[in-house]
Amino acid sequence: MRRKIVVGNWKMNKTVAESAELASAVVAALGNDCSACEAGIAPTYPALDAVGCTIKGSEVLLVAQNCHYEDDGAYTGEVSTGMLKAVGCSYVIIGHSERRQYFGETDATVNLRIKKVLAAGMKAILCVGETLDERESGAFEAVVSSQVTGGLQGVVDISDIVIAYEPVWAIGTGRTASSEQAQEVHKIIRNKVAELYGAAAAEAVRIQYGGSVKPSNAAELFAMPDIDGGLIGGAALKAEDFVAIVKAAC
Ligand code: 13P
Repeated sequence: MRRKIVVGNWKMNKTVAESAELASAVVAALGNDCSACEAGIAPTYPALDAVGCTIKGSEVLLVAQNCHYEDDGAYTGEVSTGMLKAVGCSYVIIGHSERRQYFGETDATVNLRIKKVLAAGMKAILCVGETLDERESGAFEAVVSSQVTGGLQGVVDISDIVIAYEPVWAIGTGRTASSEQAQEVHKIIRNKVAELYGAAAAEAVRIQYGGSVKPSNAAELFAMPDIDGGLIGGAALKAEDFVAIVKAAC
């Protein structure tokens, strides 16, 4: 039985003070109710420390939205895995479609980051997903499969990897994939993992869905056999909505 995981990706939203306030509201609303699943929040880099202090002692995990693949040095604007680990991050989101679309991330750079996160002793959330054109042309199976293969190149053990399926056309658009559409792709991803890592690893790997998840559709999505939680954008910016989604997973 896979333990569900719900992560709030706050993207480029909230000041440090606002982030601490939201984190505090999440912890208060969640209480001790979420031991059946994992819940995490991913604020911006400047807010990681304050949010980490706020959620200390709760079951909520600190998650980073990205990292660089070098240890340190002349990489202006970047943040290393060592820095994220030191501030208390358990997971790092890698290869979000916004990183791929706006910041030139490729499967190759995603792969470098994934390996760096694992080497630092954290867990990685590998994001994959097709664009609207790729969905409409029927290429989504090939696209998602090659993102999984490319992102995991050379990774021997995937026990510290979570995969997030986020169809680009469903992110921030209010247009959620139907639970059947999402399930179909989650199954494709699990089959790909089975091909690469064997049946036991495929059975164990958690695959989150992301893209306009809301309190009103979370339970139906999470009830699908291959959907193991969610990566939540807009709805994670409101404590009560995020907590309602976490509770739907628990
Ligand atoms: P929305 O929930 O706002 O569609 O965003 C999903 C997402 O990109 C989470 O990483």
